[in-house]
Amino acid sequence: MNDTVLRVNAVNKVVPSADDDLAILQDISFSLQQSQSLAIVGPSGAGKSTLLGLLAGLDVPTSGDIWLGQHKITAMNEEGRARVRAELVGFVFQTFQLLGSLTALENVALPMELNGQPDAQARARDYLQKVGLGQRFKHYPKQLSGGEQQRVAVARAFACAPKLLFADEPTGNLDQATGEKISDLLFELNQQADTTLILVTHEQRLADRCERVITIDGGRLVSSVGNASVVGDEKEHQDNNSQQPAAMI
Ligand SMILES: Nc1ncnc2c1ncn2[C@@H]1O[C@H](COP(=O)(O)OP(=O)(O)OP(=O)(O)O)[C@@H](O)[C@H]1O
Ligand SMILES: [Mg+2]
Repeated sequence: MNDTVLRVNAVNKVVPSADDDLAILQDISFSLQQSQSLAIVGPSGAGKSTLLGLLAGLDVPTSGDIWLGQHKITAMNEEGRARVRAELVGFVFQTFQLLGSLTALENVALPMELNGQPDAQARARDYLQKVGLGQRFKHYPKQLSGGEQQRVAVARAFACAPKLLFADEPTGNLDQATGEKISDLLFELNQQADTTLILVTHEQRLADRCERVITIDGGRLVSSVGNASVVGDEKEHQDNNSQQPAAMI
């Protein structure tokens, strides 16, 4: 279908470990339409961050295929994936990944400057203000609290207005009010810019706002609720849990 923006087919991720190979993700398949919102939930260690990294082209699966828009990223090398990421993807990491030697403003402006965007500085200021950090432009990451660093990371991802925004626990370090503000911004972007949202979250309230929720447990996709179309099966994923809202951990 033309407006399928993300397609995942039979993805496995195996990593070598001391004794034996460790299967982190097993046989994950689903697809997502442009401008949809998807929450990925499940217990700690289930494989959510690993999956998000694969979907965004930051890492490669051991087997299986992933398409971002028209690009089959699993057939590309790192350079090709980097090009697709620059064109389509924004990412908010669980660990923020801010550059310690750059101020908040420089961190937010850098990806836009690398993309040759002329109004990078002005947009960076605007987005830092949107996340409530108008007074922190010149602070370095180590001078910011965990929640403030998270908000800089969110501003950096938003400011590029990506077609797909991947966010790993975007409200994980925030109090409820600030978390709500960040969630509102996420869904504003989703609605105004048609950005597809793919969020990993432990927060029931955030997952509830997404059109679709998939649950990963022990590296497997165990339930899919909402308008999920599992590859090869246009109906809801058949599972004991599939009629229930996904359990939040
Ligand atoms: N490079 C790696 N080598 C070995 N094991 C790994 C590697 N990356 C992840 N794992 C393991 O894979 C599992 C899934 O990790 P992942 O970070 O995806 O979990 P998660 O669902 O995001 O958990 P959390 O909710 O705690 O963030 C974990 O057991 C982790 O220890
Ligand atoms: Mg994680």
